[in-house]
Amino acid sequence: MLACLCSWYCPIPSHGLTPDCARPQRGLREGIESGEAYLRECAAYCLDRDNFAGVPETMICKARHEAFNYGLRVDGSAGLSEGNLETNLSSDQLTFKIGSLQEFIHFDGVAGDWGARKFPKHEVHKIGILDIRLLNLDRNDANILVRRVHTDPPPGVRWEDHRPALELIPIDHGYCLPSTLNVGWCDWVWYEWPQAKEPFDNETLAYIASLDPDADARMLRDSFKIREECIKYVLSLVLADNHASPRVVVALLLLLLLLLLLLLLLLLLLLLLLLLLLLLLLLLLLLLLLLLLLLLLLLLLSLLLLLLLLLLLLLLSLLLLLFLVLLSIARCASQACC
Ligand SMILES: Nc1ncnc2c1ncn2[C@@H]1O[C@H](COP(=O)(O)OP(=O)(O)OP(=O)(O)O)[C@@H](O)[C@H]1O
Ligand SMILES: [Mg+2]
Repeated sequence: MLACLCSWYCPIPSHGLTPDCARPQRGLREGIESGEAYLRECAAYCLDRDNFAGVPETMICKARHEAFNYGLRVDGSAGLSEGNLETNLSSDQLTFKIGSLQEFIHFDGVAGDWGARKFPKHEVHKIGILDIRLLNLDRNDANILVRRVHTDPPPGVRWEDHRPALELIPIDHGYCLPSTLNVGWCDWVWYEWPQAKEPFDNETLAYIASLDPDADARMLRDSFKIREECIKYVLSLVLADNHASPRVVVALLLLLLLLLLLLLLLLLLLLLLLLLLLLLLLLLLLLLLLLLLLLLLLLLLSLLLLLLLLLLLLLLSLLLLLFLVLLSIARCASQACC
């Protein structure tokens, strides 16, 4: 619920980032010009769809108060000096300042007052997602308010052992949506927290999937007149994260197809190589068989020769025997004649 009495007004004259602080000039961070911060405070609240990250309700308003005026008044006379807020001027002589008005949050400290491990994973993730979407350049540990949420202890846990859960509330979004992509390691305090390395839960994944970068861009363009060069990063970061563009999908598919073709070619080559090897093996086997056959033939031939020799020998011995028989017959005959 917004109300002036319990709200945080942020004309930020010390930053030089309000539209009426002087003519537009470079802000304290590259990519954000003076006079742009109050718009970003409100844009951050509107971009925090469904208040997922819990950015306090924020609106743009104009206000005038003696405490705002350190320079010239509407009539051109010298203003108040710092530390001296007394003035004789009536309030309608003071210049209006445009700024952002934010819901006042009752909190128990800032993130720097706790050990980061104490924060629930989901709380850290919601801040991280917001900072990436907004390309927030100022998430230091004082820009996260911490609130204890007192709940009943879960069944089985005693009251004295039960610790209240910690809720993180992101504030100070004047340095988001820059025109240059230049986030430093120290800009995101959660970057080194252990929870940032853990996977998202299903609720968070569903939230990321529900984000619509085109609608975000339209809102920033139409309602906040944010410069186009600041919108492109918000858009592309979300696109890269969740909504792969059709061109990226086609490129990925083509790459996959190419890989598949390469794999197929490799398989074919392997198959060819295997076939060649098989052929070689078959040839070797054939050669071996031929050799074996030759050996067998040789063996047969030598056996035949041996047989022939034996036959010859047998014949010779038979002839010799016949000759001897004939000789003895002839001798017997001659003896009988004598
Ligand atoms: N919505 C809020 N509700 C309650 N307190 C707030 C809120 N926003 C800011 N504050 C208080 O003001 C402090 C500074 O706020 P913020 O970070 O927005 O300003 P800042 O520009 O960083 O100021 P500083 O010049 O101190 O760095 C916070 O630490 C917190 O104590
Ligand atoms: Mg701050």
